[in-house]
Amino acid sequence: MLSPKVEKALNKQIKIEAESSQIYLAMASWAEINGFEGVAQFMYAQTDEERMHMLKIVKFVNERGGHALVSDLKAPPTQFGSAKEMFETLFKHEVFVSKSINELVDITLAEKDYATHNFLQWYIAEQIEEEATARTILDKIELIGEEKSGFYLFDKDIKAMITPLPTDI
Ligand code: FEO
Repeated sequence: MLSPKVEKALNKQIKIEAESSQIYLAMASWAEINGFEGVAQFMYAQTDEERMHMLKIVKFVNERGGHALVSDLKAPPTQFGSAKEMFETLFKHEVFVSKSINELVDITLAEKDYATHNFLQWYIAEQIEEEATARTILDKIELIGEEKSGFYLFDKDIKAMITPLPTDI
């Protein structure tokens, strides 16, 4: 059984994951209309992944006797300036998500909810991976600089960084 505090915090995280999915969908659409085909594919995969992160918590909350809430979401930005700015926004957003997961872990410890604490370990590992991917992409963009041909190759390269979705949520 979830304590009211843990349930509330998990519902907050459901909203954050859903908003993440919306942000990456907006990025995918922006990349697509600006001719970054590989980046768009990466972002479309990313938006699905965030939805999966959200669903995993929805199912966990309901399984543990709580009520997973579907709430209204903050609208994401529609313009991202440049691909570099867009990945900077993505990186900052992932750092924000990691912070939120850490706060959630703190709450589970204070509430002595070891089952939820255990469930959240998957998210901690996932955040390490997502931050690392964003950092790698930013390093690559930094190396390319303003070079158009370099960016063309980067746009092709990024497709290799798309991770397939697990099927067992
Ligand atoms: Fe679900 Fe990228 O945080």
